[in-house]
Amino acid sequence: MRKQNRIFTILLFSSMFMANAQTKKHLDKKLPIEERITLLMKEMTLEEKVGQMNQYNGTWDFTGPKPESGSEEEKYNHLKRGWVGSMLTIRGVKEVRAVQKIAVEETRLGIPLLFGFDVIHGYKTLSPIPLAEAASWDLEAIKKSASVAADEASASGLNWTFGPNVDISNDARWGRVMEGAGEDPYLGSLIAEARVKGFQGEKLEANNTIASCAKHFAAYGFVEAGREYNSVDISTSKLYNTVLPPFKAAVDAGVRTFMNSFNTLNGVPATGNSFLQREVLKGDWKFSGFVVSDWASIREMIAHGYAIDGADASAKAVQAGSDMDMESHLYVTELVKLVKNGTVNESLVDDAVRRILRVKFELGLFDDPYRYCDENREKATIGNKSNNEAVLDMAKKSIVLLKNERNLLPLKKTGVKIALIGALASDKNSPLGSWRIAADDDTAISVLEGMQKYKGNKLVYEKGTDVSKEKQLFVQEVKINYTDFSEFEAAKKAAKEAEIVVMVLGEIGFQSGEGRSRTELGLPGNQQQLLEEIYKVNSNIVLVLNNGRPLSIPWAAENVPAIVEAWQLGTQTGNAVAEVLYGDYNPSGKLPMSFPRNVGQCPIYYNLYNTGRPTDKDDNVFWSHYNDVEKTPLYPFGYGLSYTTFQYKNLKINNLTPKKGETILLSVEVTNTGDFDGKEVVQLYVNDPVASIVRPVKELKGFELVFLKKGETKIIQFELTDKELGFYDNNGKFNVESGLFNIMVGGSSVEGLVDRFELK
Ligand code: BGC
Repeated sequence: MRKQNRIFTILLFSSMFMANAQTKKHLDKKLPIEERITLLMKEMTLEEKVGQMNQYNGTWDFTGPKPESGSEEEKYNHLKRGWVGSMLTIRGVKEVRAVQKIAVEETRLGIPLLFGFDVIHGYKTLSPIPLAEAASWDLEAIKKSASVAADEASASGLNWTFGPNVDISNDARWGRVMEGAGEDPYLGSLIAEARVKGFQGEKLEANNTIASCAKHFAAYGFVEAGREYNSVDISTSKLYNTVLPPFKAAVDAGVRTFMNSFNTLNGVPATGNSFLQREVLKGDWKFSGFVVSDWASIREMIAHGYAIDGADASAKAVQAGSDMDMESHLYVTELVKLVKNGTVNESLVDDAVRRILRVKFELGLFDDPYRYCDENREKATIGNKSNNEAVLDMAKKSIVLLKNERNLLPLKKTGVKIALIGALASDKNSPLGSWRIAADDDTAISVLEGMQKYKGNKLVYEKGTDVSKEKQLFVQEVKINYTDFSEFEAAKKAAKEAEIVVMVLGEIGFQSGEGRSRTELGLPGNQQQLLEEIYKVNSNIVLVLNNGRPLSIPWAAENVPAIVEAWQLGTQTGNAVAEVLYGDYNPSGKLPMSFPRNVGQCPIYYNLYNTGRPTDKDDNVFWSHYNDVEKTPLYPFGYGLSYTTFQYKNLKINNLTPKKGETILLSVEVTNTGDFDGKEVVQLYVNDPVASIVRPVKELKGFELVFLKKGETKIIQFELTDKELGFYDNNGKFNVESGLFNIMVGGSSVEGLVDRFELK
């Protein structure tokens, strides 16, 4: 997937230097930004304005299908004419500087470029995949992780990330769940805020922060049947209550850009959707940044059946509020004509350009276009020690203990014979996950390497089987042959001779992510068979899962005594897993997505509606259930164990009949009743049992991460206000309705102390 970047080849040999024709008044730092934009726009031709709305790929790594038009030479020529506002996937100070130089020194007005890149979970030093980070419920750590990513990316010349992905999704079939924060809008909103603040820091113009991008606007996580790029049909109340909150939180946190999405929403492609982009985002929410299309999503409106040709697609996109065209190559060819023939009002172009220039000014690019281009900083920052420490910390916090029987965990540090089995245990690439374009292959610490650092035990490693023959999985998964059993015997022998077996099973790094929807959620390939064969010779198994999405593992959940959800934890994976297995770190993660019993349950999520027949009264089939499997998830949202135990007592509500507008105070006592110090995520759920439209059986409305020494008790307090008790109706209107409210406080979405109050 790597291609020689011909733009560079051409430009590095180009000696042409064009004097800028600008009057430069807009470079006066003392003037307010809006005035500087006005001054600059007065100088711009229509072609130059449209140019700002055009974004090209650096042709180095493709993250979508190759464009239908636009040669490298054409892109280069457009760049020199000032017909490009941004480039994506170009990275590294040398390369960024070279391209920026063309924009700044060779074009008529010298407008600097934005350099965008998918910094999704780290740049070169990788954090856990975003879904894993969400399992930490640790907002400070997540913010820190985004700031480490921004530090490295900006040191590499970049000034804009296409992240965070704030798509709520409850369908594990969809490969992109690895990029988001899971199924819950409340947790998702807080994480969106943390990530935006982490990327953008206190000052956008600082050279170690980058502009962030809330994507994909909107409802991409609800693609039908979890099939990538599929259509979405959801109600207005679902859109407002579930999909939009993290986007709104991103706006409130100051996010500077949005990306729209590939899907249609209720029949209208998101890219051409003026309700989303003009009415909600730029209207109701007063968003002052700009919207970039997703890769070729303007052109894709033709395939959707929403536009007749490129001109029609361009007109519809710009009218709907898509400000920048990523890789459709359409605005640059169509918009000038459309304005001249009166189809598109120039004021729409002006609005888009003002928004784009605003972000460029805010980033400080007009004051110093090379502010992110410092070779010394690049060398000192990327992959440095403190970044590695930060991602290790994040990785440990992201691990979720799903089961721990027979006291298998934590492992004893001396005198134990351990067999480590599974191809993923020695894999140094898969733990990097999907979306890690800037990272070098095979740079993760493997679980094998992590465990080898504990020298007191005898560790034997056997692969057992491969997960996939393909490392990158750009081909269709169905074309891969998994049926090699030849290494089973060696693995069984190692297991038989060991006291404890640690098996690392799951997905390779590219089995989730964009374009990786799946209809099977079990362990891929013949790993399930391997697990069952090993179990026959030694059932003392600690199963360590590596995966980018919830997997369905009913057999393991029933039979295997210990299960650790270790996702894809980035560069420091092996160290984090080993520290948890050996008890040097007590796991505290909680699932941000429900794990289904089998794929037929998808989509499955905790905050569902009740139905008219929620339970079985008469021992017959006429109630809402499946006939072959329980309707509950295998592991629910919010669930996760610790090496210690926690007890909840004394749930109190300060006012049992509060009035609307009043703040309700809740408190609960939590005690560490086990043998280890540990952290607990204390969760508050609310249910509105009768309302003008039905409300979910429960909804997360607060949580607190609390550290308790063994034996220690703390009182945890929560506040509830109208904001948490109200909901959006099917007109998009927020209502707070009086009546009963049930509350539950506990360590997961399925158990806790309950009480109720009546809102007057
Ligand atoms: C993805 C976006 C990404 C873009 C640029 C698209 O295929 O959907 O999330 O930011 O490519 O790489």
